[in-house]
Amino acid sequence: MRFDSKARTYDQHAGPQRTFAAKTAEVILGIARRDAGVVELGAGTGALTRHLCGAGLCVLATDASPDMVVLGKTSEPRANWQMLDAFAEIPPSAALQVSSGLLQWAAEPLQVLQRWSSALTAGGKMVHAFPCRPCLHEWYSVVPRGPLTWHDREEWLGFFHKAGLRVDREQVWSSEVYYPTALDLVRSMHHSGVTGPRLLTAGELRRAIRQYEVQYRQTAGVAATWVWQCIEARLATSELSPLTGK
Ligand SMILES: C[S@@+](CC[C@H](N)C(=O)[O-])C[C@H]1O[C@@H](n2cnc3c(N)ncnc32)[C@H](O)[C@@H]1O
Repeated sequence: MRFDSKARTYDQHAGPQRTFAAKTAEVILGIARRDAGVVELGAGTGALTRHLCGAGLCVLATDASPDMVVLGKTSEPRANWQMLDAFAEIPPSAALQVSSGLLQWAAEPLQVLQRWSSALTAGGKMVHAFPCRPCLHEWYSVVPRGPLTWHDREEWLGFFHKAGLRVDREQVWSSEVYYPTALDLVRSMHHSGVTGPRLLTAGELRRAIRQYEVQYRQTAGVAATWVWQCIEARLATSELSPLTGK
């Protein structure tokens, strides 16, 4: 992934991420008290942050990319912004910890979730939403390799349970997105920073684009299926949250 170098073009190409951030916000706002503090991980340019701040939550928005933090501060100044590598550091402690579009990048999800759960205050909760398999399955059917290891819904639930978390609610959202051409889809992935270091040769990329056009063109354009999982969890041993009261 290259979120830092693509921070400036991210918003223009992150339509699906914004859609799922809005849905994630609904889940969070359903359990958060309006005066509660929230720590957001991988906040990017603030797609989720602005829904939370708009509802009156006090948000500490964090991201590992300096450029994302700069852009986030400008786009959502009501939040406090800070740099944080959420896969290497323990997040600031919070009664509510959230993210949208981050966890799928963790090379070691179990260890990351263990660290994140250690940052929940007594009775605290987390809401994390992320793409899961079969997200973008059309693309992965035409390329030999990709930048991340995909996990399906059951595998993700397994990581949460193994990390000592009790899942209170879990849902999967799916959305069919149409791009004018397969090249537009590839450009969109590239400019939103999700493609990472070059993994395909120029020939492999050209072949994949051609094949995508043949296999997935419909009247509305070429189709790409986005699938996101949203998990609301708390420490398996915890009591009701003194802050959220739920
Ligand atoms: C797909 S974007 C999602 C951004 C935002 N939450 C949204 O919904 O638009 C992923 C974000 O995670 C950030 N990120 C990637 N690895 C990270 C890490 N180890 N710690 C914190 N943030 C990270 C990236 O810089 C990027 O801003």
